[in-house]
Amino acid sequence: MYVNFEYYTPTKVIFGKEAEKQTAAQVKRFGGTKVLLHYGGGSVVRSGLLDRIKASLDEEKIAYVELSGVVPNPHLDKVYEGIELCKKEGVDFILAIGGGSVIDSSKAIGYGVANEGDVWDFFDHNREAKACLPLGAVLTIAAAGSEMSNGCVITNEKNGQKRAYDNDVCRAKFAIMNPELTMTLPDYQTASGCADIIMHSMERYFNQNDNYEMTDVISEALMRNVMKYARILAKEPDNYKARAEVMWAGSLSHNGLTGCGTDNGDWACHNMEHEVGGMFNVAHGAGLASLWGSWARYVHHAAMDRFEKFALNVTCVEPGADAEETIERGIRAMEQFYHDINMPTSLKELGVEPTAEQIETMAHGCEVACGGAAGCIIPLKTADMIKIYEMARG
Ligand code: NZQ
Ligand code: ZN
Repeated sequence: MYVNFEYYTPTKVIFGKEAEKQTAAQVKRFGGTKVLLHYGGGSVVRSGLLDRIKASLDEEKIAYVELSGVVPNPHLDKVYEGIELCKKEGVDFILAIGGGSVIDSSKAIGYGVANEGDVWDFFDHNREAKACLPLGAVLTIAAAGSEMSNGCVITNEKNGQKRAYDNDVCRAKFAIMNPELTMTLPDYQTASGCADIIMHSMERYFNQNDNYEMTDVISEALMRNVMKYARILAKEPDNYKARAEVMWAGSLSHNGLTGCGTDNGDWACHNMEHEVGGMFNVAHGAGLASLWGSWARYVHHAAMDRFEKFALNVTCVEPGADAEETIERGIRAMEQFYHDINMPTSLKELGVEPTAEQIETMAHGCEVACGGAAGCIIPLKTADMIKIYEMARG
């Protein structure tokens, strides 16, 4: 089916060297008078970025308060702390300085300030948020795409539930992207980010529709390009061109562009990874890489044409004797790519060895979080996901 779609991407992008110099001007332009500076465990302090941003806010005479300590797979408790602080201080704009975790924590705080009641209700899908405090992002890692997405993923550390909530009201007003800021990343985070970026287009690419050729070619080019530059970054982390290519791809891969006409795609890998992240606190992109091959082998027979197209146009393998062989070559080529950038292709390589009981908990949790089944190529139930997690053990 050739489906209708909506495309909404309101975030103003300021991209390139020294882009962060425009931060205060953008806060002002979008009406911020009292800002929450929200950041993580200290990388932005060590790099001097935080001080530069504070200086620019001082120059524009914009008041601010700070809340640090966002952890990867951001916690609900920090969100509650931020909501309290914003209410107490009369904050009217949130500036996220960091990666997906900081941006998502900011979005959740924004929901909590702008709506009554417990913010976790949104992540539990009990009700919809009506509004969100305006926010902007100064991005320091190319990965999650939260700087342009309508997504927000929070972990309730009390019960290990990691849950996503999508709503257009949380989209950032602006995103400042200076590729140079990503050069201080540990190699593992750079690679994990690249795996996540590719997956955001891949999850949209794999679906059961009669896809728009325009969307397919954008998606395929994006995935090839990130694979190319991720391999370069594995050897040359200071390569500006590679940093810039990956950073821009990171935003385009998750701002909806590669999802036009895909009827949302198949997000089973993401949904299954969120369970792993909630239980074992792994880097998100690495978690995705560890599951993808097993997922692909489990579902490919239900979408042979798409998997064959992916093998030929994205991993660029030679055709095999039949579609099955071509597809397996494509999956292997993708796994080879993950290994080339030091990403895992199994849970064992990820450093996770779940018990049978933990696998069942994750599979069941995923079914519940997805409202009945994960993905669309084969709508995966608990029993399917148990098999995939088992296949992914390694
Ligand atoms: O906390 P600090 O000290 O800043 O260190 C961070 C963190 O340890 C570090 N880092 C970031 N920029 C750096 C840096 N270290 C040195 N130099 C820099 N320039 O990197 C580590 C990871 O940061 P994090 O923000 O967690 O990474 P990422 O952007 O991959 O975000 C992952 C989170 O986003 C969610 C994931 O599930 C995960 O919770 N996602 C959000 C999405 C969305 N909102 O649309 C979609 C994604 O699919 C994803 O689920
Ligand atoms: Zn992701």
